[in-house]
Amino acid sequence: MSRHSYIFDPAHFKIYLLLFISVFGDTKEEVRSKIFRKLETYRINNIFKTMNSLTEVQCCAQCLEEDSCVSTNFRTNSTSQNCNLNSMSPLEANVSIENSANWSVFYLDNDSWKLVFRLTAGGGTDTYEAWKNGVGTNNSDDCMMLYPPLCTSYYRHELLDEWGKWNIEQVKFALYENHTEAAYIIFNGTGSDFESWFSKERLLESSWADIIGTNQMLYFSIKGDSVLGRQFFIQEYYGGCPGDRGWTMAVSGIFRGCSFDKHPSYPGIVYAMNGTKSTYYSTGYGVADVLAVYVKFK
Ligand SMILES: *[C@@H]1O[C@H](CO)[C@@H](O)[C@H](O)[C@H]1NC(C)=O
Ligand SMILES: *[C@@H]1O[C@H](CO)[C@@H](O)[C@H](O)[C@H]1NC(C)=O
Ligand SMILES: *[C@@H]1O[C@H](CO)[C@@H](O)[C@H](O)[C@H]1NC(C)=O
Ligand SMILES: *[C@@H]1O[C@H](CO)[C@@H](O)[C@H](O)[C@H]1NC(C)=O
Ligand SMILES: *[C@@H]1O[C@H](CO)[C@@H](O)[C@H](O)[C@H]1NC(C)=O
Ligand SMILES: *[C@@H]1O[C@H](CO)[C@@H](O)[C@H](O)[C@H]1NC(C)=O
Ligand SMILES: *[C@@H]1O[C@H](CO)[C@@H](O)[C@H](O)[C@H]1NC(C)=O
Ligand SMILES: *[C@@H]1O[C@H](CO)[C@@H](O)[C@H](O)[C@H]1NC(C)=O
Repeated sequence: MSRHSYIFDPAHFKIYLLLFISVFGDTKEEVRSKIFRKLETYRINNIFKTMNSLTEVQCCAQCLEEDSCVSTNFRTNSTSQNCNLNSMSPLEANVSIENSANWSVFYLDNDSWKLVFRLTAGGGTDTYEAWKNGVGTNNSDDCMMLYPPLCTSYYRHELLDEWGKWNIEQVKFALYENHTEAAYIIFNGTGSDFESWFSKERLLESSWADIIGTNQMLYFSIKGDSVLGRQFFIQEYYGGCPGDRGWTMAVSGIFRGCSFDKHPSYPGIVYAMNGTKSTYYSTGYGVADVLAVYVKFK
């Protein structure tokens, strides 16, 4: 049995589809409610089952019956209704999603990590201005994907303007290269503000094995080095260009003195590969295409 209702999302003025599903177990009936968000004019290609002649509510209810289902594609026209069950959500790095008239994607909200910021390399807008003041950002759902097909702005959720009012427990900083997570750090968000969470003292976990044990940091901040234009900057040491070593930076392009400051377009996102810090000149470095920040609530 399932019933449904629509609820209003005050943050985005978008309709959510709320499904109540009764699950009959051996001894008791459990009622689960699940929220699907709707993304119009998109279709996901990671389909594992196609079912026709269902309503959009029935299509989403079918999705909840399947463990591997995290989203649906739905289309209705004068002659038929099409429902696809998908194994990937629009918010995942490796989803194959495209703009497609007449289709909508319904997807389960990610309960564990909520995306609050996404910056794309080469986007043209200064990283710190985007993070702090929203310059060059857009909070539309069209912009909420890591690799959005229809949005050229960065994504910035308005909770960044009132960070302290949300019960933020953890913050995740993640870099993606070619649709794959390349590095991440999880921070303790308790009692933080929108800048102070990004600090050495708050480190909980990271893909960089040596970042927690390093005692001396020259820079560990979002604002970073404003003279050289290096933001989301985690650096152990400045040794002229050849001796410079650290973990990551979003390069603004105001200073192009070292090899890793030079990119075809800005910002450029530089990171130490293979799980440890890099002396960029001699060891080399990776160049990410997406920088994202997620929060987890208490
Ligand atoms: C309606 O959907 C069917 C698939 O079930 C498709 O073949 C047909 O082209 C669609 N019609 C329109 C007008 O989009
Ligand atoms: C990404 O998706 C492609 C095609 O669906 C697949 O071949 C590849 O293994 C995936 N990569 C990762 C890292 O999941
Ligand atoms: C979308 O639906 C309209 C009206 O049913 C139809 O005229 C149009 O061809 C459809 N477009 C696509 C791309 O299927
Ligand atoms: C939820 O977000 C986390 C953090 O990025 C990610 O690892 C996970 O795959 C996401 N789950 C879904 C269903 O999107
Ligand atoms: C935000 O992005 C959406 C989708 O791309 C677009 O329609 C809208 O105009 C954008 N808003 C601003 C203020 O750029
Ligand atoms: C990105 O991934 C695709 C598909 O897995 C692969 O063909 C391509 O070589 C990769 N590009 C880079 C720069 O790693
Ligand atoms: C996070 O920080 C708070 C406040 O300083 C502290 O009470 C809590 O124990 C920390 N949590 C973890 C997992 O370190
Ligand atoms: C990282 O590891 C890969 C694969 O082992 C290697 O090809 C690459 O040179 C390494 N890069 C750096 C910067 O250490």
